[in-house]
Amino acid sequence: MSVGLGRIFLDPPVFLAPMAGISDRPFREIAERFGAGLVVSEMVASADMLHDKPSARTRASLGLGRARTAVQLAGREPAPMAEAARRLEAEGTPVIDINFGCPAKKVTGGLSGAALMREPARALRIIEAVVAAVAVPVTLKMRLGWDDDSRNAPAIARLAEAAGVRMLTVHGRTRCQFYAGRADWSAIRAVRDSVRIPVVANGDITDAATARAALARSGAQAVMVGRGARGRPWILGQIAAALAGRPAPAAPRGPELRALVAAHYDAMLAFYGRETGQKVARKHLGWYLDEAGAAPAFRAMLLRSEEPAAVLRALERPWPAAVPDEAAA
Ligand SMILES: Cc1cc2nc3c(=O)[nH]c(=O)nc-3n(C[C@H](O)[C@H](O)[C@H](O)COP(=O)(O)O)c2cc1C
Repeated sequence: MSVGLGRIFLDPPVFLAPMAGISDRPFREIAERFGAGLVVSEMVASADMLHDKPSARTRASLGLGRARTAVQLAGREPAPMAEAARRLEAEGTPVIDINFGCPAKKVTGGLSGAALMREPARALRIIEAVVAAVAVPVTLKMRLGWDDDSRNAPAIARLAEAAGVRMLTVHGRTRCQFYAGRADWSAIRAVRDSVRIPVVANGDITDAATARAALARSGAQAVMVGRGARGRPWILGQIAAALAGRPAPAAPRGPELRALVAAHYDAMLAFYGRETGQKVARKHLGWYLDEAGAAPAFRAMLLRSEEPAAVLRALERPWPAAVPDEAAA
């Protein structure tokens, strides 16, 4: 099973979702190593890209998994979106994704992200401008619509396909739901039935069972995993194996897990520098330690530490496990 985007084949059809503050280059590299067919960057505001803001450069930077990386652009002005896409392409970005899904007020308040689903004419102008600007495949990520009274994802999907978008990801919630309730995978089927380009199901997919259910209900060709990969990026490879009917590779444990987390920690510090690196690393460490059932006192000590060498030393030794009472607390 693979998804074709022109000459690019995304195999397996299990992708890492764009997540601001999470799907940065170090994390994408790990997800790609564990077998993601595509990894998507944090959203990059087109204006920030054009102003050469360091944060935009950081977000758009391609890593070892560059061949399987999509960089996501957000913005509401067609010309700057097109220019930002051109720059990304010149830097070797193989796939450009447009964000029509972000529900955050900071983004919809600037009337981009999911807000663009309420403005189909503008949405179309943005898509047309970006597609015309680059030769690499352009993809689009959206929600089911703004709210329950305007679930217009199928209509946007048809516009996008006609304008040359090569793949659509649909998070099975409306903007007004934010992250509440359950993602409605069945509702993604209306998008699938409206277009011929590949559709990717997203929302609440966390393991092989939810991936299978999302594919069955939506009819989508691929799945995209976001929050379910925090602290457990190997889940992407496990889902991919299950979908291909192969035995799932075991999750890393013991020394293998400790080496992975230590290497990820190191990579974050090297990528961001010490201060920002520690801030970003604390989030990921917390997720890894929670996933591993580490003792809360150990977790707190690691997350408070200001001393990277001490954190690395502690990560490399066996992690004390939470006793059942602590785990329940
Ligand atoms: C912290 C966080 C940041 C996110 N940032 C982005 C983003 O930059 N671009 C985007 O299209 N979606 C973003 N999303 C949405 C995810 O890509 C995904 O659609 C959503 O989390 C549902 O999938 P999940 O249930 O697998 O997490 C973000 C989600 C989270 C939790």
